[in-house]
Amino acid sequence: MPEYAITVNGQLRRVQASADTPLLWVLRDELGLIGTKFGCGVGLCRACTVHVDGNASFSCQLPIAAVADASITTIEGLSPDRSHPLQRAWIAEEVPQCGYCQPGQIMSAAALLARTPAPDDAEIDQWMAPNLCRCGTYNRIRAAIRRAAAEASHDG
Ligand code: FES
Ligand code: FES
Repeated sequence: MPEYAITVNGQLRRVQASADTPLLWVLRDELGLIGTKFGCGVGLCRACTVHVDGNASFSCQLPIAAVADASITTIEGLSPDRSHPLQRAWIAEEVPQCGYCQPGQIMSAAALLARTPAPDDAEIDQWMAPNLCRCGTYNRIRAAIRRAAAEASHDG
């Protein structure tokens, strides 16, 4: 099996996997980073969202061979201690219900705020629409993103 060197959460990691192994399974099964979730496996739910070179990406749809030179950030790497404004806002707004979709939601939201620091509701809804939540936490997700954006503008 070929070996790939990938950068995950700032660390160079070496893994052996067949070229078409989805990044999701490398993260979960080889590296033990189980915060990234398997929802549908076919690019329809975004539970598996991670950042690849800063872009929100479906890790279930990315073969390891395609990301070997990329820098990957998972929910575990968003902050060392849950101090990212989105993580604090998620706690303050008590967003999760079952929690399953939430790492993907937060990673998508982080990519949104990186490019649009003060999104309005329409921008939030449009960006977050592909992230499905079977528990229907959408209103609290929107509130948490607004809270994080406001906090970041305050800090800045
Ligand atoms: S598990 Fe990747 S989009 Fe659903
Ligand atoms: S919190 Fe249960 S699926 Fe979103």
